[in-house]
Amino acid sequence: MEKKTVRTGIVGAGFSASFHYEALRKVHGVDVDVVGVYCPPEAERRAYAAKRGIWAFDNLESLIEAVDVVHVCTPPVAHEAVTVAALEQDKFVICEKPLTGYFGDGSDGFSGDTFPKQDALDFALASVERMLAAEAKSKGKILYAENWVYAPAIQKEREILEKTGAQILWMHGEEAHSGSHAATYAYWKFSGGGVMIGKGCHPLTAALYLKRVEGLKRNGKPIRPRAVSARTHAITRLEGFRDEGHIRADYHDIDDFSLMHVVFEDGTIADIFASDIVLGGIHNWLEVSANNHRTICNINPNTAMQTYNPVEANFADVYVVEKIGTKQGWSLPSPDEDWMTGYPQEIEAFYRTIAYGQPVESDSRLAADCISTIYSAYVSAEKKGAETAVRAF
Ligand SMILES: NC(=O)c1ccc[n+]([C@@H]2O[C@H](COP(=O)([O-])OP(=O)(O)OC[C@H]3O[C@@H](n4cnc5c(N)ncnc54)[C@H](O)[C@@H]3O)[C@@H](O)[C@H]2O)c1
Repeated sequence: MEKKTVRTGIVGAGFSASFHYEALRKVHGVDVDVVGVYCPPEAERRAYAAKRGIWAFDNLESLIEAVDVVHVCTPPVAHEAVTVAALEQDKFVICEKPLTGYFGDGSDGFSGDTFPKQDALDFALASVERMLAAEAKSKGKILYAENWVYAPAIQKEREILEKTGAQILWMHGEEAHSGSHAATYAYWKFSGGGVMIGKGCHPLTAALYLKRVEGLKRNGKPIRPRAVSARTHAITRLEGFRDEGHIRADYHDIDDFSLMHVVFEDGTIADIFASDIVLGGIHNWLEVSANNHRTICNINPNTAMQTYNPVEANFADVYVVEKIGTKQGWSLPSPDEDWMTGYPQEIEAFYRTIAYGQPVESDSRLAADCISTIYSAYVSAEKKGAETAVRAF
């Protein structure tokens, strides 16, 4: 097969734009020509472009025109606008998580703590519908950058489900660490919610994906989420929280702890924790209890390496693992953290879809079900955990 060339543009020049670029350099089935980058602050886009020898575009339109695929690496508030603009020009879109959301009513007094959460659900579902409608009209596609779907542990579990015809009875999982780095994350108006969406979307989407795999294998039909009960808390904003400087504690109007209890159409369940209050490095895992096996998918940490370092300063130049507080003593360095996390596999798979039309595992329907479940969960949390129906897309 002749190797195709795909022209790429990156929107956003921050944290995720950096790891997307690293993953792009590892794509081997397609020749990737990273043309350039765009983000509103000129100095930021120029610095990103200069470091990588690519073009800094002065506006979004000219970037979209010059490429075949647009990577949306902006805060969630900009995902819909950038995605729709690219789809309208028949371009593919690789959109970071979460697909979209509700970012307030624009008023000065808007507070994520107090507004009626049904507004968020209604608005987020309308936003999803606009994105799906733009995709349906376009020659391009939305490729949803949920790296957990492509993490090697989750893909190995997919193989087990497919080869054994297993029925998943219960999943529980978590994404947690000591706090997001992004300044905008602290505000609902930029993030579209707190940790329940920011981190909870990862294990939740992996769980939705595995039930989809199970259903497709046995009945040719995905098993969708039906209802959710949830709790959210703002632990670092409690009056009595004693800040010792290890956990980020400057959140404005978002949750920093959440639990979603998801009920699927077949009555089986998933419990998904997400939090910003956990020390000891990033903690990402999903456990699957099935009728014929049990799997623990350790995304991070994992025990590929265990290292003892007696003196902190020894490891000054050694990267150990994301968000580890100290490198002294025993640690679990990830020898290839990006690979364990699924970033290069995800980007490789997306480029095979773009270049050769291969089917996509993490698509817009999975992204839509994730948004629908999470904003229904915010409605439930407002009612202290009352079961709330989920509309599956
Ligand atoms: N998959 C993962 O593991 C993972 C990890 C971190 C972040 N993310 C996601 O990546 C996205 C970006 O997060 P980040 O951590 O890179 O944030 P960041 O703050 O580091 O970078 C955001 C970038 O977007 C730019 N930007 C802001 N508004 C824009 C607009 N309207 N148009 C174009 N560019 C704009 C900013 O200038 C900045 O360059 C979020 O959706 C986040 O949830 C995913």
